[in-house]
Amino acid sequence: AMAEKGGYRHFMLKEIYEQPRAIADTLAGRIPDDQADVVLEGLGLSDAELQSFRKVFLVACGTSWHAALVGKFLIEKLARVPVEVDIASEFRYRDPIVDEGTLTILISQSGETADTLAALREAKGKQGKAVAICNVVDSSIARESDGVIYTHAGPEIGVASTKAFTTQLVAFILLALRLGRARKSLTDERLGSIIAALKTLPSKIQDTLAACEHMEEIARIYAQATDFLFLGRGNQYPIALEGALKLKEISYIHAEGYPAGEMKHGPIALIDDQLPVVVVATQNESFEKVFSNMEEVRARGGQVVVITDCADDGLKGKADVVLPIPSIADELMPVLTSIPLQLLAYHFAVLRGTDVDQPRNLAKSVTVE
Ligand code: G6P
Repeated sequence: AMAEKGGYRHFMLKEIYEQPRAIADTLAGRIPDDQADVVLEGLGLSDAELQSFRKVFLVACGTSWHAALVGKFLIEKLARVPVEVDIASEFRYRDPIVDEGTLTILISQSGETADTLAALREAKGKQGKAVAICNVVDSSIARESDGVIYTHAGPEIGVASTKAFTTQLVAFILLALRLGRARKSLTDERLGSIIAALKTLPSKIQDTLAACEHMEEIARIYAQATDFLFLGRGNQYPIALEGALKLKEISYIHAEGYPAGEMKHGPIALIDDQLPVVVVATQNESFEKVFSNMEEVRARGGQVVVITDCADDGLKGKADVVLPIPSIADELMPVLTSIPLQLLAYHFAVLRGTDVDQPRNLAKSVTVE
């Protein structure tokens, strides 16, 4: 059993460590060296079609829905088209406003999730175009969509999604670049600089994994906690949601993810010295604001663990635990910040002695409603 896990104790840990390879595979052949452009073979949509969309829906469940929330930031920022994100079980029953000018993107690791498949049929039934972001080749959602972007994560066995999620983020970056290019909202410089950053992504992930080598010790500090709060802002808000979901799924510890700026409207009431707060603070336009949220937590006795690409030593006294990770273009930072949160959840689960790869009550793929 150890052999099929590549020497790792659990599939989840193996899959976390496979991410440099999974992401290199997802990028392979899509960002050719000789020209600064993105190639998405299976997309099935012409430049004229990509230009014609007035609206984009991103529809998914679970972790894939969190990838969609990051996708909204990327597509709106780089392609300047309005994006709405929906949970598949909600979308399918609310008579969504879809027409020929609507692109619906279904995100599903398995490509078999019943609600997501039903959402696809709903969108296609209304004459909308549909593209799938799937990991499993020839899955139902991939087959029934007009086009597909495969994530090349390889088989994901652990119920808690890790490499499938980060490769979905990469698929969204590629798609946002392709859309931005077709819609002429992306300059050559911008495209060139993001592509250059993408090429360094696998090695930055490797460095991020190395930066997390003491994660087990960090998990040990908070092993008795019964609740966690995860905060992030902008493109890191979905990563906070995903960090909280991972913790819930495999360690059964209650956790909540929140947009940092919304903390004052509720969660701040929960903060006391029993509540660890994991803050994702990356060096973008909201860094200072997230930083002051962190100070508000500490002023109320909360324990702060900060995950940041800011190497400033001044941060050390401002949080209980500072976990520095590498820096990359802001569009790609969510890929890097995902990794410490995966490892944090993993080590909590191991410390609690849960069945990491097969958590109670959960299924890898939910093919019934
Ligand atoms: C289940 C899994 C989750 C997954 C979700 C959506 O709930 O336990 O890990 O995110 O389904 O799955 P999909 O295959 O559609 O991405």
